[in-house]
This record gives sequence, structure tokens and C-alpha cells, in this order.
Amino acid sequence: MSVTKAPFGKLNGEEIFLYTITNKSGASVSLMTLGAGVHSLFVPDKNGNLDDVVLGFDNVEDYVNPDYGYQGLSVGRWANRIRDGKFTFEGKEYTAPQNQGTWTLHGGGRFSFTPWSVDETGDSFVVFSRFSPDGEDGFPGNATFKVKYTFTDDCTLRIDYSVLSDKNTVANPTNHTYFNLSGVDSETVENHFLMINADYFTETDESQLATGELGEVKGTMMDFTALHKIGDRINEPFRACIGDVGYDNNYCLRSKNGKFELAAVLEHRESGRKLEVYTDLPGIQLYCGGWLSRDYTVGKGTSLVTYRRGVALETQFYPDALNIADFPLWTVKANEEFKTTTEFRFSVK
Ligand code: BGC
Repeated sequence: MSVTKAPFGKLNGEEIFLYTITNKSGASVSLMTLGAGVHSLFVPDKNGNLDDVVLGFDNVEDYVNPDYGYQGLSVGRWANRIRDGKFTFEGKEYTAPQNQGTWTLHGGGRFSFTPWSVDETGDSFVVFSRFSPDGEDGFPGNATFKVKYTFTDDCTLRIDYSVLSDKNTVANPTNHTYFNLSGVDSETVENHFLMINADYFTETDESQLATGELGEVKGTMMDFTALHKIGDRINEPFRACIGDVGYDNNYCLRSKNGKFELAAVLEHRESGRKLEVYTDLPGIQLYCGGWLSRDYTVGKGTSLVTYRRGVALETQFYPDALNIADFPLWTVKANEEFKTTTEFRFSVK
């Protein structure tokens, strides 16, 4: 295993670096100081050929355009949507930026779009950190967020998040990588098989804001309890989906009590690539890139960031758990490290 560092490009005059962890078989992950993000991830197919299985950009500046969908970035302080950009925590009301419609999306601020520091590197890991001052984007507590990526010889990308705050606060960190296991530039994700370990999803209104109700997946296009193609039912009209966006919904994982368990399986049968997602968080957002324009011309070489080209599997607390008392939530206690872990395990079939 080894870690190398190289300049990637400049953002507002500041150099962004790529840290690449390579394992003994030559598989590798490149991580950016910008947003503690995943830039590329090369894993073998059934014939041993390495391909990049995540979307992203050659040009640093494209990462900070929110229209391009937070490709690969770490998201915080609170992933997903907060109704009206308001929440009450321990009796006090807080206001976060309404950076989309009337709600907050992905923390509402610059959390994902700034350079992070590198605290430590080892043969197989890199630790990024970012200090978020008390009141930044409305959230309480001087809080240090850390994201540790470890890449193993058996092609597991492990992400350990930690938050240390001087006040009680809330955090919902996630990673916004879009996977496409085909390694083929012209393929969307509709041919990928998916399983999600969930019987319920969080119901949403016409603005995709959580209503507090849970919907049963059984008998609907939301059902991924058994592996089947994403494209099988993605175009069916459904109350919790918007037009031709398709899946952009949070699933309630069967394990909700902080147990580290299998959340999802993604397979691309032609290449033989398989991805298993494990997490200790109670939810996972399935988003198939349906808001990305068919006309975008940005990406990495000829692999473009366009409509349905990638699937994001964002482990998280349920959206708006800050406002919906029934949704599971564990909070950050002052001066105690809050931790959560997600693993993306790659293999071939
Ligand atoms: C949201 C999408 C959004 C995307 C990029 C996802 O988590 O659910 O609606 O377009 O992030 O911001």
C-alpha cells in the first residue's frame, strides 16, 4: 500500500491536492483536499481490468458548482433537506441558509466547497479535517469535522467521520460519490442491479421535503428488497418521485440502532463489478442523478456528469430528522467525539 500526493489545480488561487492510495493489486482511490472528496476510484472488473467507477471532473472549479451535484464531496453539517431552513435543538431555534427553494440542502453553505486540511496520512489512509466555527451556516458549536478514508488490499473504501464540538450540536455527514461500475462512458446506471436493505422510505411532498410519514416499499417502484435493475421501474410515476428525475429518496434501513450492517448492494453484471455498502446510520438516500442535465459537457475526459450516469448511495440520518421527532437521531455531545462509519466494499462476481 502507498499514498502519493500531487497537485490537482487551483481554486481561488489556492492549490488543491490529490492524495492517491494504491493497494497491492494496483487498485486505487484519489482523494481531494477540496471538500474531502473522492475524485476517482479504480477497481478491477472480472478480467482484472481497472476502470474508474466514480463520476467527477478534470477541472477543480466544476466541483464547486452545486448544479453539478456535489460529485464525490463530503457533505455537512447536515446532509439532505431541512424544511424552511429552521430547526429547534435543545429549546433554541436555529436558522440555516435556504440555498434551494425555501429549504436548506446539504448544510446550505460552503462546507463541501472549501479546501480541507490533511491531518495525517499512513500507508493506506488519509485524514482530512475542517473546522466549522460556532454559528457557521446557523449550526451551533465550534466543531471540527474529520473524514478518514482507508483503502484496503481487498478494495474496501472505509470512511470514518468524527465530529468534536465545544457545545452540544447535531451532525449528519455523508459522502456524495456517484458510482457507475460499468467503466463505460456511454452507460447510465439503469442497467445496474440494486438491493436496499429497507422496507420503508421517508415520504416526501412536492418539494421533496420529508412529511414525517413512512411509506411501505412493498408493491411499489420503490421496492429494492431483492436485487433488480434500477431501470426496471425508474420511469413509473410515483407520489414520492418528481417527473423524470426518478429515484431521489431516503430509505429507512432495517438496522436503525447504530449497528454496522449491510445497507445496499450494487452490481454491474457485464463487468462483474459489485459494491456492498455498510453503515451504522439509519438511512440511505438513493439518488440516480436525475437532476443532472442531459446536455452537460463536463466530467473526466469522455466520462461525463450527465443525466442518470451515476448512482449516489448517501448514508445518513433521515432527511429533516431535526424537525421530525419520530425519526431516529443521535446528537453530538459537547467535548465528546461523535463517530460514524460507512464502507464501500468492491468485489467481482
Ligand atoms: C439530493 C438531490 C440533489 C443532489 C445534489 C441529493 O442528495 O437528494 O436532490 O440534486 O443531492 O445536490
